[in-house]
This record gives sequence, C-alpha cells and structure tokens, in this order.
Amino acid sequence: MNNLHLVWHNATVSKADRQRLHGHKSAVLWFTGLSGAGKSTLANALEQRLHAEGMRTYLLDGDNIRHGLNRDLGFSPADRTENIRRIAEVAKLFVDAGTLVMTAFISPYQADRELARSLVEPGEFIEIYVSCALETCEKRDPKGLYRKARAGEIPEFTGISAPYEPPVSPELVVHSDRQSLEESVEQIYRYLAAQGYLRA
Ligand code: ADX
Repeated sequence: MNNLHLVWHNATVSKADRQRLHGHKSAVLWFTGLSGAGKSTLANALEQRLHAEGMRTYLLDGDNIRHGLNRDLGFSPADRTENIRRIAEVAKLFVDAGTLVMTAFISPYQADRELARSLVEPGEFIEIYVSCALETCEKRDPKGLYRKARAGEIPEFTGISAPYEPPVSPELVVHSDRQSLEESVEQIYRYLAAQGYLRA
C-alpha cells in the first residue's frame, strides 16, 4: 500500500475542545469475553445510564458491525485480527470526537487488544474483562451457537475449537456469573467517576 503521498491534516477543532464542550473526558471502554458472557448486555446497560446522565456515548457491537463495516470478515485468526484492528481505528475516531465509546467484541487475542490500546493515549483505553465460566456461557447459549459448535456445525468457535486469551492486566474485571447486571454497571460507573472520566 502506498501512503507516501498522503498528508495528515490537523483539524481546527481539537479533541480537547470537544471534551470541554461535552463536559467529560472521552475514552474507549473495551469489553472482552466469551460469546454469551454478557458484553453487549452490560455495555448497553452502562450506555443507557451514561446517556441518561447527559454523557456523549456510542456503542460498537460485535454482531452489528459484522453486518456492515466488517461483513467481509469471518472467524479465522487473521480475520478476527482485522476485525479488531478496524474496530480499534473506529473507536479511536470516536475518542477524537469526544465520546465515551463502548466496544463489545470477543476480541480473543491479547495482541489484538494491545494494538487497540496502543492507538489511543494513555488513560483513554479501559479494558473490561467480562469473566464468565465457559460452562455458564454454554448453558445460557442465547443464540444457540454453542450447541451448533459442539455438533461441529460452526468451526473455530471461541471456547470450543478456537482460543480465548484472558486479559493480562485489565482495568476492570466483571464476573457476570457471580454478580448481577446492576452490580456490574455500578462497578464500572464508580470506576469511571473515581478516575475523573465523567461530568462532575
Ligand atoms: S471476534 O472474535 O472477532 O472479536 P466478534 O465479537 O466480532 O468476534 O463476533 C462474535 C459473535 O459472532 C459471537 O457472539 C457469535 O454470535 C458470532 N459467531 C459466529 N461464528 C463464530 C465463531 N466461530 N466464533 C465466535 N463467535 C462466532
């Protein structure tokens, strides 16, 4: 790819200007965990609360993004890496736009999550590990995919026939198999408030 003749333009309105207008910081809240762990549910509930309190938010959700922007990608290791790379670039744009952006993707590889973190500034990436025992995810099986994966109908299914690498040092760990949705939302909300991300 030839990027030699591209010149970066600095916008006149800066990220700091937008954050000032919004009255709060911007950051990526990166949810990661197995399918069925509750990433989307949790991100949705958190967004609802932040939005109700007047915060600028946006949610990038696995299944939805794979219907559009990433409809050309499957679930091979290389495709998952490209999936996460694109999401990370989009999330970075939302941070630049002064938004609290939530991403809900399995994002099974540590290296891919590190890449996502490296795209934004220190303090702008909050990795939230939605921890849930595989047996519990499989029991929940909200989309019936674990059953199909066990039956051999879905190859390379995370947790069954493809790996999930748990985060090494996430900012937050939420145990969705041991705490309620409300408790988890509260835990993340308190972290954001204590770290000064939210409108005072
Ligand atoms: S990721 O691994 O590339 O981060 P992503 O979060 O975008 O995955 O998509 C995961 C969703 O795709 C799952 O919740 C499930 O609904 C669906 N899916 C379909 N095939 C697979 C598969 N082989 N492994 C995992 N999830 C799959």
